[in-house]
Amino acid sequence: DRIDKGNYAHFMLKEIFEQPIVVAQTLQSYVRPFEGQVALPDFGFDLASINRVTIVACGTSYYAGLVAKYWFEQFARVPVDIDVASEFRYREPVLEKGGLSLFISQSGETADTLAALRHAKSEGQTIAVVVNVPTSSMAREADLMLPTHAGPEIGVASTKAFTCQLAVLAALATNLARDKGRLTADEEKEIVAHLQEAPQALNDALAHDDDIAAMAHLIVPARDVLYLGRGPDYPMALEGALKLKEISYIHAEGYAAGEMKHGPIALIDDNVPVIVLAPSGPLFEKTVSNMQEVRARGGKIVLISDAHGIAEAGEGCMATIEMPQVHPLIAPLVYAVPVQLLAYHVAVLKGTDVDQPRNLAKSVTVE
Ligand code: G6P
Repeated sequence: DRIDKGNYAHFMLKEIFEQPIVVAQTLQSYVRPFEGQVALPDFGFDLASINRVTIVACGTSYYAGLVAKYWFEQFARVPVDIDVASEFRYREPVLEKGGLSLFISQSGETADTLAALRHAKSEGQTIAVVVNVPTSSMAREADLMLPTHAGPEIGVASTKAFTCQLAVLAALATNLARDKGRLTADEEKEIVAHLQEAPQALNDALAHDDDIAAMAHLIVPARDVLYLGRGPDYPMALEGALKLKEISYIHAEGYAAGEMKHGPIALIDDNVPVIVLAPSGPLFEKTVSNMQEVRARGGKIVLISDAHGIAEAGEGCMATIEMPQVHPLIAPLVYAVPVQLLAYHVAVLKGTDVDQPRNLAKSVTVE
């Protein structure tokens, strides 16, 4: 089928807005809402035997893996190693026989990730892949294939494939936790209920598009932008910075909020906007105190939080973007939306080629 942009100015914007639907579609294959259970395809293999997971990916898919590391460790108590694919083989990773190596890729063809997959296979690892293209090389070479159902993604900067990857990874983490005896049936039910809330929460996040478009003007003049987050929202800060770099060509860095005092705080002045991702939850107060350190140095803050967080810490910020109140588990999916939209609107204001940014390719097939 020919894919067109419909009423959207760019594929990227269309794909951002498709997220509630494609995440719902993806979740449909991984959860049984009525039973309150996750349901992965039957691999004919016992997930409970997994004692270590090695995750390998590139770019945005790598950040999905970073979020998953928090989930696998927190819920299933399974230790996770994670590498960018281009580094994986060269550090000569210690791969125990029978371990699970998990590769995440929209295209399933990224050369570095594919080479890493083949290396792990030659070391006797069980190979799982989370891929959006079910006919891809990675899908074919895997023992366990976990498809995302994002549909074709045309914009070079990945958006909907990323949130679908997170949905699959959350289900996988939950399944692993259950099989390892780390979750009661009630706890699993609760997690499934929160996952099921994701599509609506994504819709609620998208409803703030106009506010985000309006505040994008404040970012356009910047030469550098910092993104801060904690816990599973730290990878979202990395993803926010990557999205901005990719399509607006503004230099941006994502940092763990607590690490900022070890370097990047030296950059803070009123020309460096600092975007803080701080959903309410157990890490909120700590992130806010890092945000105050920025403010005390004249930094201009954009706080992305929920109504409760904004009421508590929004005063004195250059701008605030309100997200729905969500369970910390689905916060990374929901907070993907404002960072994608912000990068998009800044890029549009700068007049860059949003869907085909300079020097970048949708699928990188050279190492
Ligand atoms: C390229 C794309 C990114 C993508 C990365 C990994 O750099 O421009 O959007 O995240 O490759 O691609 P993959 O297909 O392996 O997820």
